[in-house]
Amino acid sequence: MSQMPLAEKLPITFKNIHVTTPDGEPTPDVPSWIWEVDHPYLHGLFAPVQGEFFSESLEIESGDLPSDLAGIYVVNGPNQRFKPWGRYHYYDGDGMLHATYFGNGKASYKSKWIRTEAFLEEEKQQRAIWPGLCGPFNHDLPGSPIKDNSNTDIIFYQGKLMSLWYLAGAPQAIDPIELTTLGPETLGNTLDHNLSAHSKVDPKTGDLIFFNYQDVKPYMTYGVANAKDGRRLEVPIDLPGPRSPHDMGITENYSILHDLPYFHDAEVLVRHKKRVVRFHPDIPARFGVIPRYGKAEDLRWFEASPCYVLHLVNCWEEGSTIVMIGCRQDNPGGNRDSEDGPLASQLAERRRTHSLYEWRLDLTTGKTSERELNTLNLEFPTINTRFLGSRNRYSYLQLLPTCTSEDGVEGRCQTFDALVKFDCETGDVQRYDYGSGVSGSESWFAPRMGGDATCEDDGYVITYTHSRNDWISRCLVFDAKNITQGPITTIRMPRRFNIGFHGVWVDSEDIA
Ligand SMILES: [Fe+2]
Repeated sequence: MSQMPLAEKLPITFKNIHVTTPDGEPTPDVPSWIWEVDHPYLHGLFAPVQGEFFSESLEIESGDLPSDLAGIYVVNGPNQRFKPWGRYHYYDGDGMLHATYFGNGKASYKSKWIRTEAFLEEEKQQRAIWPGLCGPFNHDLPGSPIKDNSNTDIIFYQGKLMSLWYLAGAPQAIDPIELTTLGPETLGNTLDHNLSAHSKVDPKTGDLIFFNYQDVKPYMTYGVANAKDGRRLEVPIDLPGPRSPHDMGITENYSILHDLPYFHDAEVLVRHKKRVVRFHPDIPARFGVIPRYGKAEDLRWFEASPCYVLHLVNCWEEGSTIVMIGCRQDNPGGNRDSEDGPLASQLAERRRTHSLYEWRLDLTTGKTSERELNTLNLEFPTINTRFLGSRNRYSYLQLLPTCTSEDGVEGRCQTFDALVKFDCETGDVQRYDYGSGVSGSESWFAPRMGGDATCEDDGYVITYTHSRNDWISRCLVFDAKNITQGPITTIRMPRRFNIGFHGVWVDSEDIA
């Protein structure tokens, strides 16, 4: 692995930060075309890697791998294969999975692209064909008018991984061991529409609870696949127009859907063939509570102060109240800087701030109460998934930098500065800063094998870090009870790779 600092070679031309074209050969692991594309999300910590990779035995830099850590930590994210067609957006890169396999005190690593329909066609033609989020949308292309790259989320359902796309795409079934794409997941030939990212798997029942959203009626569909009898439920959700929800919640008996006042203009999409998303601070946020196997007429909307919510932490029931914990944005459009030129919109989105928040939806009165739980700029929350839908205490989040225009273009890209463990009962925070020039990834809780399943933090927290100091990616393992002390194990990954979006932890016993 070359030590050449990619960031110092960036051909950045925005905001008068000029232009350093590469004075040497590109590092062997990046595609050569990135030097022709001036985009901060294709360079530095975001530079895509070439090719797929397997390493059977990873180097432990410090500490020892716990012998009771067994399973897979896998992260999905954008890794652009070919020089982009049209203007690139951070969300556009082809989905690539980075999986670390733990067991018997050892670790191995595998990375593979997700072979979507679009990926396979572009691979055949050896060029980018589909436009990305910046458009123009091309409805003559098969499948999706922009590339459904399945790069956003990854869940584990009935023995397989399933990759999902934030704009609601064709879910892809993935072999968890080989990491190969098995093809579109059809739920036994019963699924005839797309699924959004952040569909949920109930840890107690195994049910898959999902939503789909689109630009034509029904603007949203809610659904459940029953794990026991294969029963399927599909409920069209009546919305005032196309919306851009990103997550949903589940409790033991209910599901919570989002109608939030941050959405695109359908007419602009038709006229200009791109999504222009805008915050409407005069429209309340609405949370729709529906019994898990309810009908459209069972849905009840709860109004709350205008906001956007990318990700929920967890939801649960307390008597006749639904408690929903999530990361709330009160200015989801961010602060645009006109000097960012054509990238102003996507860079502004990354400058938005979040706060950990609680909404209480009272099923008796129909009223919502809400309060801020913490003011740190926290996002990408995860929990011990055995507690998904049940009252829980601990969440593991990423601290996002609060960026200013002085940070330069690259400094305003989305990086993660610290791992934070938040105690929802006491408000206590444990924090581990990754260090200057280092970004983490969405971190996942791994239960200790043979541990106390009722003890919510009896296990480990795992994350990838990516460093612009030495251009090495690492995998850190923390004792979940003590994040502040730092990682108990640091694994040096066999190659650098870029910051991803969402991941998942899969227990070895679930794979078996
Ligand atoms: Fe997400």
